[in-house]
Amino acid sequence: MHLVVGVRAIVLFASSASAALIGRQSGTTIATLPNDAWIESIFARSNGQLLLSRLDTPELWTLDPSAKQTSKLAGFPNALGLTGITEISPDVFAVVSGNMTVKGSISYTPGTWGVWKVDLTSSDPKTTFVKQIPEAGFLIGVTPFNNDTVLVADAGKGSLYQLSISTGAYSVVLSDATMKAASNAPIAEGIHGIKYSNGTVYFTNTFGNGFYKVAIDPTTGKSTSSVTPVLASVTNPEDFVLGADGSAFMATLSAGVIKVTPDGKSSRVVSTSSPSSCAFGRGAGDKGTLYISTSSGTVSSIDAR
Ligand SMILES: *[C@@H]1O[C@H](CO)[C@@H](O)[C@H](O)[C@H]1NC(C)=O
Ligand SMILES: *[C@@H]1O[C@H](CO)[C@@H](O)[C@H](O)[C@H]1NC(C)=O
Ligand SMILES: *[C@@H]1O[C@H](CO)[C@@H](O)[C@H](O)[C@H]1NC(C)=O
Repeated sequence: MHLVVGVRAIVLFASSASAALIGRQSGTTIATLPNDAWIESIFARSNGQLLLSRLDTPELWTLDPSAKQTSKLAGFPNALGLTGITEISPDVFAVVSGNMTVKGSISYTPGTWGVWKVDLTSSDPKTTFVKQIPEAGFLIGVTPFNNDTVLVADAGKGSLYQLSISTGAYSVVLSDATMKAASNAPIAEGIHGIKYSNGTVYFTNTFGNGFYKVAIDPTTGKSTSSVTPVLASVTNPEDFVLGADGSAFMATLSAGVIKVTPDGKSSRVVSTSSPSSCAFGRGAGDKGTLYISTSSGTVSSIDAR
C-alpha cells in the first residue's frame, strides 16, 4: 500500500506542477523511525516534544524536533498497534489501541479496540488501560470533549463514542451515514480524524471522501444540528489539525497535506506522500511549524504560517 500510494502521489504532483504550490513543494524530513514503522498519529506536547503512535507495533515514541532525536516512550500489551492520541489534561494523554495488520494486506479486527491513559507528568511514563469497547469496529481519532471525557471515532461502524477517562463509561453519541465508508472501500474506514472545538465536531471520512462538521450539545455530546460538509469533496482524507484561524491542515492519501479554510476553500500545503497526521509545534520557536507524520515512518516539517 505504501508503494501504490507513493506512486499515486507522484503522478498527481507531476500533473499539477503548475498549480499553486509556490515555495511550498517539499517539507524537510526530520526523523525516520526504525524497522519499517507506520506512524499513525502525531501530537505536540506543551514542552515542544512530539508524540508518535505506531500502527505496526503497539509503541508510543517521542521525537525532539530540534535535536531530531527519537526514542521509544512506552509499549502497550494485548494490541498490535496504536492509532489516535490526544491530551486530556496537561501532559496526560488518551491513546487508542487495537489489532490491525499493516504489512502485506491491510486489515483490522473489530472488537479489539480500546483507550489508554498515558500520564507523562513525571519522568516515568505511566500507562493505564481505561476501557475496551468491544462493540467498536475500528477506533482511530480521539479528541477531548471536557476535562474527563473524550470523543472517539469508530471508522469501522461509522459512529462517534464518548468515553469517560475516570470511569470508563462509554456510549455512542452519534451515528450517521456521513461517518461510514463507501461500500466498495478497500477497508471499512469511515470517520477518522476528529476535533472538538467550541460546540462543533469536525471530522474526516477516509473512504467516504468527506470533511464534515456537526454541532453537539456541550453537556450531553448529542448532536444539535445535522451533519454538513465543510469541503464538498476530498479524496481519502486522513487525520488533521486545526490551525489558529480555524483552518484544517489535513493529511490526504493522494494529494499530500491540504489546508481547508472554515468556509471550505482548499489548497495544497505540501506534496508529502503517504501522510497520516499533522501537528503544529508547541515549542519556543516552532509554533508556525507544521509537523507531518507518514505511514512510511517519517516525520517532516514545513513552515505553514
Ligand atoms: C490482538 O492480537 C494479539 C495477537 O494475535 C492477541 O494476543 C490479543 O489478545 C489481541 N487483542 C485483543 C484485544 O483481542
Ligand atoms: C472539570 O469540569 C467540571 C465540570 O465543568 C468541574 O466541576 C471540575 O472542577 C473540573 N475539574 C478539573 C480538574 O478541572
Ligand atoms: C463559540 O461559539 C459561539 C456560538 O457559535 C460563538 O458565539 C463564539 O464566538 C465562539 N467562541 C469562540 C472562542 O470561537
